[in-house]
Amino acid sequence: MSNQELYNLSLQAREMAYCPYSHFATGAALLGESGKVYLGCNVENGAYGPTNCAERTAVFKAVSEGERRFKAIAVCGAPEGQRPDKLCAPCGICRQVLSEFVEDDFKVILFDEEKGVKAYPFKKILPFRFDLKEY
Ligand code: THU
Repeated sequence: MSNQELYNLSLQAREMAYCPYSHFATGAALLGESGKVYLGCNVENGAYGPTNCAERTAVFKAVSEGERRFKAIAVCGAPEGQRPDKLCAPCGICRQVLSEFVEDDFKVILFDEEKGVKAYPFKKILPFRFDLKEY
């Protein structure tokens, strides 16, 4: 699957975003080692704190279905009703959640108008990771 194809799936996932509070709609498409793709969107909550980001929705769906190793994730986000033309990078909590299941060369696929669809190695967006499995 190409970076562009995975990114297009993240746009599809974004259509399901539930974001009545922030009005910021996000989508993620997570590619498992098996080749299966897991889609996620943000799911907000009136108590704010329980809100789940698109990336974590995709990770939790995948892990709960038995997949634990991943090749890439594509992420997009923008205010509801607008095209996601600016870079939308995973938040810190989502980076840590991904970190549990991915290697340094895991691809984070993002889009911005200047660079287009581009893959960033996970190590670049989380250089100093905490990994309890290392102890
Ligand atoms: N959001 C994501 O889904 N992923 C991120 O990495 C950053 C933020 C969501 C959470 C919230 O529903 C909305 O975007 C605004 O923060």
